[in-house]
Amino acid sequence: MPRERLSVVVTRRLPEVVETRLSELFDVRLREDDTPMTRDELIAATREADVLVPTLSDTLDASLLGQVGDRLKLIANYGAGVDHIDVATARQRGILVSNTPGVLTDDTADMTMALILAVTRRLPEGMAVMQRGEWAGWSPTAFLGGRLGGRRLGILGMGRIGQAVARRARAFGMQIHYHNRHRLRPEIEEELEATYWESLDQMVARMDVISVNCPSTPSTFHLMNARRLKLMKPTAVIVNTSRGEVIDENALTRMIRAGEIAGAGLDVYEHGTEVNPRLRQLPNVVLLPHMGSATVEGRIEMGEKVIINIKTFEDGHRPPDQVVPSML
Ligand code: DGY
Repeated sequence: MPRERLSVVVTRRLPEVVETRLSELFDVRLREDDTPMTRDELIAATREADVLVPTLSDTLDASLLGQVGDRLKLIANYGAGVDHIDVATARQRGILVSNTPGVLTDDTADMTMALILAVTRRLPEGMAVMQRGEWAGWSPTAFLGGRLGGRRLGILGMGRIGQAVARRARAFGMQIHYHNRHRLRPEIEEELEATYWESLDQMVARMDVISVNCPSTPSTFHLMNARRLKLMKPTAVIVNTSRGEVIDENALTRMIRAGEIAGAGLDVYEHGTEVNPRLRQLPNVVLLPHMGSATVEGRIEMGEKVIINIKTFEDGHRPPDQVVPSML
């Protein structure tokens, strides 16, 4: 007798090929419009599903997880970051959590370089002049930015994405420095020609560019707080393609306005879509709407990872990308 198909609820619209494949394999309820589910809709979804496929726009905290039904057995997150999921509470309730690491590494690292270039070479200012039709022709002194080659890049968080940023930045002639919970193996340090700083303070004080690439966890909250931002050289810039909570956004805004930090490139914000309005007014700040991993290829590969995680779970094994609290 054929086995009953797993009931899977997907909280957001996904690329069509991913939705089609999910529908072929499982008993799927897809989202009709691309809006985040309300909290009540999420709770209802968790009660009818064996597997929930949420994204970073769904907050699955302890209080919500306290209301899920007995049926839910796997949260197969569509995305790498799991800071919106209380993984420890899920585990206590016997619910596995998986994510989609690896497939968005290169895209996010590309976007990190794009932001570094945009800020240091003043792309938004040039684009704005062109869009307003105000370009008066080439000038030896117009739009002068800084050369990336020779600048010191300090990477905060040297996991997959941090290392991918380092590889790219080296090709631009930057000098690679990093701070991480654990020092990299010597052969990786050698390959990346990367200098390890045990002291984040000391690294921050000496860099020309800081790139935030660590996940958001309780221990990385406001890692770049006002005190640490103050250590940055006034000529230095900071970019963040990870999570907004790692930087104290108000302190950063104040210091850029005061000329204490030369600029910023941000893809993520401390309060989600509530971006500090003052940040939007600064010419030396480049803001993007969390599009670091937004490539067609990446989104499809994220879907493939979700499917493999669910399928492996259905076959009675642990999902290959299972996240456990000790990893966070
Ligand atoms: C993730 O998967 O966590 C990314 O932030 C999405 O861009």
